[in-house]
Order: sequence, then structure tokens, then C-alpha cells
Amino acid sequence: MSKDSIVDASKPSAGRMYDYYLGGNHNFEVDRQVADQVIKLLPFLPKYIRLQRWALQDIATELTENRKFDVVIDFASGLPTNDHIHYKVPKGTTVIYSDYDPVVVEYTREILKDTPDTYFFHGDAGKPEELLNKPEVQKILGGRRKVAFVLWGVSMFLNDEDLTHAVQYLYEWAAPGSCLVFNAQGSDVDLENPAAVKIKKIYEQSGAVIHTRSLERYLEILAPWKPDGKGFVSLLDWHGLDALELGKEDLEAFEPMGGGYGGYLIK
Ligand SMILES: C[S@@+](CC[C@H](N)C(=O)[O-])C[C@H]1O[C@@H](n2cnc3c(N)ncnc32)[C@H](O)[C@@H]1O
Repeated sequence: MSKDSIVDASKPSAGRMYDYYLGGNHNFEVDRQVADQVIKLLPFLPKYIRLQRWALQDIATELTENRKFDVVIDFASGLPTNDHIHYKVPKGTTVIYSDYDPVVVEYTREILKDTPDTYFFHGDAGKPEELLNKPEVQKILGGRRKVAFVLWGVSMFLNDEDLTHAVQYLYEWAAPGSCLVFNAQGSDVDLENPAAVKIKKIYEQSGAVIHTRSLERYLEILAPWKPDGKGFVSLLDWHGLDALELGKEDLEAFEPMGGGYGGYLIK
């Protein structure tokens, strides 16, 4: 990727806005301006995003220490900062990150440097075949197909066709026993709520179309992946809310946007 891709980044990017919400410094003025508009409407958003990131850390531990996966393939990773998957997994775990934003990919070189067993590739989460068929990725995997996939914080950015294709392709590709950790974003969103309408508009003005769905629709799209015993768990119940210091006001604000759901699906 040439340096020009960074200089040319004149449009806000969801990945860099996300970094801003998390308090990072890999973002531009254009990202901060749009993100600040969103925060004005939804002051709880940085806390919500922190909740999503904490869930990712929880996932990293659950997948490797409890479910014994030694390969984690994460789509739409955003920036792999020190609160991401590779920080939480045991030594020797292969972590393959990807994102379609070239600027995010460029920044990750600086962030990951020579971190062992951790890789980052440019890739569209809606076309996982592009990542999985890369010769470098095939070399890293060495034929391993019993893996854990993570699709976290991205379902709202994919239309039905791309999301269906992605999860079906992953199902076909994976060996039995593989796992897909999935975040069903916006599944309890109240589209009548004025704040929800405005935030959708702001994202759309920045070029990202937001797709919201019911939990039932998500499950239809995800079949034949099967949620494990726990099923989908509301992110509001995923981690202790106290630790996030969410007040009554935050919780009321959360409600119309929905905490979203997360679940472990098994082949
Ligand atoms: C909300 S962040 C989520 C980051 C991380 N997965 C997490 O949960 O903390 C969304 C990320 O998805 C990326 N993204 C959106 N659509 C994508 C697509 N079709 N393919 C790959 N990345 C995508 C954006 O560039 C951004 O980095």
C-alpha cells in the first residue's frame, strides 16, 4: 500500500472513527468531526464500543483457553490495538486479522510490527474467499481448517446478500467443529427513535450504509451454523455493566440503539 493511501484519506472511515471512540490516536480530523456528531446524539457510544471491545477480549480467551482453538481468523478487525484478540490468546495461537480499509491496513504495520504468529491482510468480510485463498494465508494455515472465525462489529455494514454469502462460504470451507463468533448488531434497534434515525443518517452520509435486522432474520441468514447451548446473549448481559459505569441515563439511551447480541455458532 502506498503512502498516498493515507494522504488521500479525505473521507471519514468507520475503523478510524472506532479508534477515536476507543480513545486511540490512529484517526484523522475528518473522522473526529463525524464521530463527535455521533457522540453528541449518543453520548453513551464510547462506553458501548468499549463494551464491544471487552467482549472481543472475552471471546479470545474463550476460544483458545476453553474451546482450544489454535487459529483465530477475524474479519473487519479494525485496528489491532492492545485491547484486541492477539493480546489475550496464549503464545503460539495463530491470529489472522483483516479489514477492507486500506488506511487501517497501513496503520497495522506500525501497530503489529513483528508480533509473532499475528498477521493482518486487506480483505472484504463479505468475500472471505479472497482472504482464505491468498497464498500467504494458505501457507500460514498449512491445511488447518478447524478454526474459529470472528465476525464482530461488522454485521450492520454488510447487506443481506454479502452477509449470507460470507457465512455460507465460511461454513462450506470450515472443518466440522469449527466455530463462528458472531455479533448481531442493531438487532433490537428501535428505528422510530429519533437518535437512531439520525445516527443511521450520519453513517450513511459518510458513505457507510447501515443494515439492521431482527435476531430471527440473523438466525435465518446464519443457518446452518448453529448457536451453541447459550444461544445469542445480549451484549448488555455479556459483561458486567457496573465496570463500565453505565448510569441510568446511559442505559435509557442504550435501549433504542440496542446493545446487540453475540453468540458462538458451531459447524
Ligand atoms: C465497528 S469496527 C469493528 C472493529 C472490531 N471488529 C471490533 O469489534 O472491535 C468496524 C470495522 O469494520 C470494517 N469494515 C466494514 N465493512 C467491512 C467489510 N465489508 N469488509 C472488511 N471490513 C469492513 C471497518 O473498516 C471497521 O474497521
